[in-house]
Amino acid sequence: MSATIEILTQLHRSNGQFVRLDLPAAELAELQQLGYSIEAHPHLGYRLVAGPDRLMADDLRARLQTKIIGREILVFEETTSTNDVVERLARSQVQEGLVVFAESQTKGRGRHGRAWASPRGKGLWFSVLLRPKFPLPRLTVAASVAVARVAGQAARIKWPNDVTLDGRKLAGILTETRQATAILGIGLNVNCRAEDFPADLRPLVTSLPCADRPGLAAQVLTELDALYVQAATDFPAITAEWARLCTTLGKQIAVQIGDRRIDGHAQALDEDGALLIRRDTGQIERVLGADLVVERT
Ligand code: BTN
Repeated sequence: MSATIEILTQLHRSNGQFVRLDLPAAELAELQQLGYSIEAHPHLGYRLVAGPDRLMADDLRARLQTKIIGREILVFEETTSTNDVVERLARSQVQEGLVVFAESQTKGRGRHGRAWASPRGKGLWFSVLLRPKFPLPRLTVAASVAVARVAGQAARIKWPNDVTLDGRKLAGILTETRQATAILGIGLNVNCRAEDFPADLRPLVTSLPCADRPGLAAQVLTELDALYVQAATDFPAITAEWARLCTTLGKQIAVQIGDRRIDGHAQALDEDGALLIRRDTGQIERVLGADLVVERT
């Protein structure tokens, strides 16, 4: 662990309280230069008052105690799409758990080739390289639960993988695969304003206000790590939580997959993470994703 990560770890873990640290003046000046506000006391040591509203790899590492996710973290000021960066890195033997954040994306993309607005210094736009040893759809289910947990009590999940607040989209998940590698891309709107989104999307989207965006990023990674481990060992516990949060279950829905339409009752998730839809005929359809989902009343 680098000296900077060590110091930041101690400062973060002391939760705003003073902590005795061996903090050379040059190192303190460097942290202050980065935007950390640190109070020094002759007897009590140092206290982190506030950190910069910037994602920084060392800072994020220092906040984490995860098993897999975040073992390595990269932060780009700007990139095309963090999913593309992870895809390139996946070709070399990078270990799973690598997380790539971008403060802005010029070609952020959503599902079905849609563009994903990724304004600079707002939101959490990131991708994780994983090699899951369980059915892939479980990953998206686990990820949506992780995001919903940190988004607070009012957050809900709309199948297949939107996290919503008051019926508006707060976060989206784009999982892509390259051989045995999964690229889990997550976009979570934080501190965004209406002008940050294309005009036609404004009535449909929302954003989480947050005074500590790096802290929120660390929380998402922490929840994701716990749920990633649990997805292999106890997926039913995750589906139970997902079902409590999901607004699609129990509804009559119509899903469009290519030129195929399925009408029926959204019943449950199966052990792979696929949605089971009961048609009016009683027949059960197993669906992994759809081009269009319409709730029927
Ligand atoms: C969706 O709901 O359509 C999925 C949106 C996924 C957006 C994230 S932002 C980070 C990562 N990089 C991308 O280009 N897309 C995902």
